[in-house]
Amino acid sequence: MRITIVGGGYVGSALASHWQQQQPPEGQARHWLRVTTTRSERLAELAPLADAVQQLDAADPDQLRAALDQSEAAVLCLAPGGSRQVEADGYEATYLRSMEAVAAVVPQLPRLQQLVYTSSCSVYGAATGLVDETTPPQPLEPHARILREAEERLLACRSPRRRVAILRLGAIYGPGRDLEPRFRSLAGSRRAGIGASLISWIHRDDVVAALAWAVEQGFDGLINLVDDEPISVRELIDRSCQAAGLQPVIWEGDAGPAAEPAPPRRLSNRRLRELGLQLQHPRLPILSAPLSPETGPLPPA
Ligand SMILES: NC(=O)c1ccc[n+]([C@@H]2O[C@H](COP(=O)([O-])OP(=O)(O)OC[C@H]3O[C@@H](n4cnc5c(N)ncnc54)[C@H](OP(=O)(O)O)[C@@H]3O)[C@@H](O)[C@H]2O)c1
Repeated sequence: MRITIVGGGYVGSALASHWQQQQPPEGQARHWLRVTTTRSERLAELAPLADAVQQLDAADPDQLRAALDQSEAAVLCLAPGGSRQVEADGYEATYLRSMEAVAAVVPQLPRLQQLVYTSSCSVYGAATGLVDETTPPQPLEPHARILREAEERLLACRSPRRRVAILRLGAIYGPGRDLEPRFRSLAGSRRAGIGASLISWIHRDDVVAALAWAVEQGFDGLINLVDDEPISVRELIDRSCQAAGLQPVIWEGDAGPAAEPAPPRRLSNRRLRELGLQLQHPRLPILSAPLSPETGPLPPA
């Protein structure tokens, strides 16, 4: 199959590497891969991972058309700034303008039969309780609203000849993106609230496996891509500090809604299980360590 990966970043380059190293089933050829980057200085780094590397701003329809030309599947895993914080304008420029460009060029690309996009569970926003793929998105903040609009642009590209697969990811961790260092700076600090909101995570290698599966199965539909055990903000921070041998955070208790802005919700990954996808990392490694009694009782999950 000819595949273009738009956004050869953390996930995109790992996906390309997976396909490069994979031994194709007997009698079948390896996939032909094109990977993109916005930066000329990354072209050489990505070259060993693909048959072609292209510098591209996906919001430019001409560049995008060239990148998708002759491809049967496109994996859209672009993001404005990796794990760094980005303003909503940056989100709009990256996700929305790029999906608009996709919608503009697909009618001119008859070979392109599938679009696969890595969205985010943040689109569920105000949804509460157990959230699965049938739960209507209720994005709360501007970033999530933009991600939802980007999904809508992409879904409008669905046709009898073109499948659209949307994977809504939890927060990604993995090699080079470890959890603990992100929270260590909070050691010993006082925090309002009880840290009860739940965060769902997914390991990079499980994202790669799910994307490869979606492309190879020609999947058309929506999947929440999160692991089995969401973790409360409090447990995550407490365990991270403990793992680093640092002072625990002092939780100040109920300080009103502003202290706990996220609604209580738990993301379900039942559909991915039903589809037969096995997670290599069903829970965060940090959850396996015993929790020190000094961290005190945790809020109910
Ligand atoms: N990180 C998370 O926790 C998380 C959570 C939920 C969903 N996701 C989604 O998962 C996907 C993969 O994330 P990641 O962590 O691999 O992102 P990443 O490491 O930041 O990589 C993003 C890639 O997109 C490229 N890019 C940026 N702007 C672009 C544009 N205008 N046109 C074309 N390409 C552009 C970047 O180009 P350069 O090579 O020039 O940098 C880079 O290759 C993204 O779609 C993200 O929204 C991530």
